[in-house]
Amino acid sequence: MPGISSAQQVRIALGERSYPIFIGTGLLDDPAAFEAAAAGNDALIVTNETVGPLYAERLARVLARRHRKVRQLALPDGERHKDWASLNLIFDTLLGHGADRKTVLYALGGGVVGDMTGFAAACYMRGVPFVQVPTTLLAQVDSSVGGKTAINHPLGKNMIGAFYQPLAVVCDLDALRTLPAREVSAGLAEVIKYGPIFDMAFLGWIEAHIDALRACEPAALARAVQRSCEIKAEVVGQDERESGLRAILNFGHTFGHAIEAGLGYGAWLHGEGVGAGMVMAAHLSRDLGLVDDAFVQRLAALIHRAGLPTRGPVIDAADNAGRYLQLMRVDKKAEGGEIRFVVIDGPGRAAVRAAPDALVRQVIDRCCAK
Ligand code: NAD
Ligand code: GLY
Repeated sequence: MPGISSAQQVRIALGERSYPIFIGTGLLDDPAAFEAAAAGNDALIVTNETVGPLYAERLARVLARRHRKVRQLALPDGERHKDWASLNLIFDTLLGHGADRKTVLYALGGGVVGDMTGFAAACYMRGVPFVQVPTTLLAQVDSSVGGKTAINHPLGKNMIGAFYQPLAVVCDLDALRTLPAREVSAGLAEVIKYGPIFDMAFLGWIEAHIDALRACEPAALARAVQRSCEIKAEVVGQDERESGLRAILNFGHTFGHAIEAGLGYGAWLHGEGVGAGMVMAAHLSRDLGLVDDAFVQRLAALIHRAGLPTRGPVIDAADNAGRYLQLMRVDKKAEGGEIRFVVIDGPGRAAVRAAPDALVRQVIDRCCAK
């Protein structure tokens, strides 16, 4: 990795679509971190109204050394804006400036900006290059890696999208310094996820460093981002388009997506839904006889220490479990209307299973706040 000081590199191996994930400090000012896209073409930085004022000028300066013209677009901030209207703003900007198919998109922001920019890149002129520059913990440990891009639909989370890989991912850990504490906790949900599904030693490490992680201590963050990206790269490298193994990365997400869609996008953060969702999925795993109660309590305790909810909300006072089930049937893992859950099939190992509605109802009744 010549030229990039103090950066770690994780490689995601996907044949001709392989790419590097750079993890380090000072990367937003380091031209060597942005050599993935061919020089000379135009660039569009897609960001939002919160992140843009913090980091877009710095990124524009570094990209100006490589690109002919660097433009910026700030989208409205928030999960509720992960929709067609925002996506269209990207297309309006590209078409308005006569962008050609060599124009490079740079996604500067959290998972919302990253998912939408990636989807725009997949669609514009049937595909233009893009680079992920994630600025939330959640985006650095998960959403910027692996090429899932999407927008939400009122009836279901991330239901409209495409698999489309970036040219590179540049994780500048310094950007996390401005992240609100609630967003740090939300990111920790996706960090914690990698333990029970893949690496119990990592789960133990997170337990030992959870306070340092919440305090954004640089060494702890660097380790968490690197190990998370290593695990994600390994899983995606084996199953890019989620024909099997990759589904384990959705541990807690079936319940979590129902919470997000049911309450209205943005009421709970994605990571908060995943936090409570992992506890619910752990209960389901125990009820299916796959893990013991000590495992469920251990995971719930860590999620609590991460500053995340461990109980789901009541979405519908009249028939809460029924509403969850209805929402969870609109899920990309569902087959023929049958909900399929990621369960823990023994510590450090996950599987995808259907479960009887009656059992799922019991879990929801037990795990949702009264
Ligand atoms: P987000 O993108 O909404 O960002 C969270 C908040 O932090 C926003 O208000 C944002 O403006 C702000 N922010 C971002 N960087 C900042 C910084 N450095 N300093 C201060 N504020 C900053 O949310 P998120 O948690 O990053 O991402 C959640 C989204 O990611 C969801 O839509 C989810 O579906 C998606 N996701 C996708 C994948 C995938 O594989 N593609 C995986 C996990 C999650
Ligand atoms: N975040 C789930 C996945 O990338 O597959």
